Amino acid sequence: MKIAIDGPAGAGKSTISKSVAKMLNYIYIDTGAMYRSVGLAAIKAGLDTRSETELQRIINNISIEIKNDEHGQKFFLNGKDVTKEIRKPEVSIAASNVATIPSVRLKLVDIQRKLAEKSSVVMDGRDIGTYVLPNAELKIFLTADVDERARRRYKELIEKKAETNFESVREEILFRDKNDSERDFAPLKQADDAVLLDTTNMSIDEVINKILSLVEEKCNDII
Ligand code: CDP
Ligand code: CDP
Repeated sequence: MKIAIDGPAGAGKSTISKSVAKMLNYIYIDTGAMYRSVGLAAIKAGLDTRSETELQRIINNISIEIKNDEHGQKFFLNGKDVTKEIRKPEVSIAASNVATIPSVRLKLVDIQRKLAEKSSVVMDGRDIGTYVLPNAELKIFLTADVDERARRRYKELIEKKAETNFESVREEILFRDKNDSERDFAPLKQADDAVLLDTTNMSIDEVINKILSLVEEKCNDII
């Protein structure tokens, strides 16, 4: 079974996907972390993150590895652990910019589809239900009001003792919402057959339970 979870920043995709995958004993695949890794590589190489020509210089030589250990998932860019670094706000913007470039997307989508061939997965991102796994048995589009999403992300950054303020977090989310929805190739969009879940007033447990009940319904339909 493949479960596709898409939606804008701060909707709860990774928190919910991780828990659902753990409960079902499926593999969790965080596709956003892959775009973040390419964004970080572009920053490190001093490239213009919106230039296809400049990104061509790194995209074919880049290595992105995902390793699971007792602390969760770790991401390695060209052999170096970048798990923490890819969460920085400047990397979020770079990720959203490199994600507009078709050759970057094609390279990452290829890796994502190969990972999903091997086992049951919960994969989260922006284009999973519409483009990466169009035949996923269950598709969820998670969303929430932008102020609530910004509040969630801001709280998270404050807990990590990052230097930030609410308005800049909200601006960054609005920038990415627009950039991700308006790009030509595989934009952020609810798939026609996805279930829409507005989580503005839902707790994490409520969202998880709702998705588990949808999985159960799907399994009953398949049997
Ligand atoms: O992956 P995405 O950007 O969609 O969101 P996330 O990183 O999973 O969630 C952002 C923050 O919102 C996390 O700190 C979650 O614990 C929190 N959250 C929440 O408070 N209520 C929800 N229903 C979902 C997530
Ligand atoms: O966790 P959050 O929602 O803040 O972002 P993310 O899922 O880590 O994704 C970072 C950026 O990568 C997004 O703003 C998108 O531009 C891009 N992305 C994408 O284009 N397609 C995906 N399947 C996943 C992420």
